[in-house]
Amino acid sequence: VSVDVLERSGGSLAWEQSDWVSWAQSDWRRLPIRQQPDWPDLEMLRRVTGWLMTGPGLVGAAEVRDVRRSLARVARGEGFVVQAGDCAETFERPTIGTVNAAAELLTGAAGVMAARLGVPVLPIGRIAGQYAKPRSAPVERVGGVELPVFRGFLVNSPDPVPQARVPDPVRLIRAYQHSSATLRLLRESPAGAAVRTSHEALVLDYEEAFVRWDPEAGEWFLASTHLPWVGVRTHGPGDAHVRFLSGVANPVGCKVGPDTTPDQLRRICERLDPERQAGRLVLIARMGAGNVVRCLPRLVAAVESAGHPVVWLCDPMHGNTVRAPSGHKVRHIETVKAELAGFFRILYAMGGWPGGIHLEAVGRRVTECVGGARGGVAEEDVPSNYESACDPRLNAAQTAEIVGYVCGLCRAAA
Ligand code: PEP
Ligand code: CO
Repeated sequence: VSVDVLERSGGSLAWEQSDWVSWAQSDWRRLPIRQQPDWPDLEMLRRVTGWLMTGPGLVGAAEVRDVRRSLARVARGEGFVVQAGDCAETFERPTIGTVNAAAELLTGAAGVMAARLGVPVLPIGRIAGQYAKPRSAPVERVGGVELPVFRGFLVNSPDPVPQARVPDPVRLIRAYQHSSATLRLLRESPAGAAVRTSHEALVLDYEEAFVRWDPEAGEWFLASTHLPWVGVRTHGPGDAHVRFLSGVANPVGCKVGPDTTPDQLRRICERLDPERQAGRLVLIARMGAGNVVRCLPRLVAAVESAGHPVVWLCDPMHGNTVRAPSGHKVRHIETVKAELAGFFRILYAMGGWPGGIHLEAVGRRVTECVGGARGGVAEEDVPSNYESACDPRLNAAQTAEIVGYVCGLCRAAA
């Protein structure tokens, strides 16, 4: 690592200056970490991760390199990304129908955008591994009883009984098997072949077991997914998650929120993209419709002035979650549109390229988000077909509406 890199990092984290030179897949273990399960059975965890480590990875190095190349084109303004899927995948059988529907939703959206915008559009699913959820509180109340919170199928069960909420390491194997089955269905489906995978790399005991060596490129890569991302709750520049993802050759995503400061973002970018390579880093802005115009410009400027050729995506979902009268978490289509409009306006005004969108969406007629022109969902309809294991998703009609709206934003600015 060059002296230059150390100087740019400001030397603010002294321990890293020597450690930065070499990276090992387990060195995140020495760093501050958030959002990890409290595994009660560490011996079982060791056996499970040992088993995963010696098995075949889920994605190959050549594919990972290919996604990086596609993202490099997006970073240069020659393409667009549509990343979408469940907030939380479940361990229900990955049926051909479900996977086909997800693939069709993604490639359908990508096809519409490619035709209207005249640039290649890369479809990336929140799929085949999106099983772990960061949570804002460690406990929740269900029917007057306090329970450890549900952390995604990778960790525990959503059933509202204490025993179901105990983290179970055997779930890591089930996650691997479900990812593997989902990927296989995706690869065999006509629509799915072009789809790439992504998930939040949250539970590092699991992710560490998928670090593999790519002999052709001479680098480590993460074989659990094409595009791992780090969430807003775990993106501390000196923390475990950023350290872990800094050492794998995959393209990596990082969520950026209204509380992310320009200085913090510069340090994150320095850790994750020290070489300043197009296609390496995808920043996913999830500011909230009311914050995007105020908060995004200084973040875009910070990244730009530090010389990182990132892909900027807009996640108009996670900053806009509210409670419906029924108590369900919802998002309103009009608010989603407002954040998208703000994002596009700012990126264009600053001479940047709005590289794409990140949605929670499903190809079924769920009633989790409110609004929509065709067959819109009213607030009182929300309980009728609410299936999400975590956050509310756009249904197929709402997704089509958002995709059309985004095409309009692109063309208006072109
Ligand atoms: C998510 O993408 O489901 C999520 C939890 O996002 P964030 O880290 O942006 O809150
Ligand atoms: Co979510």
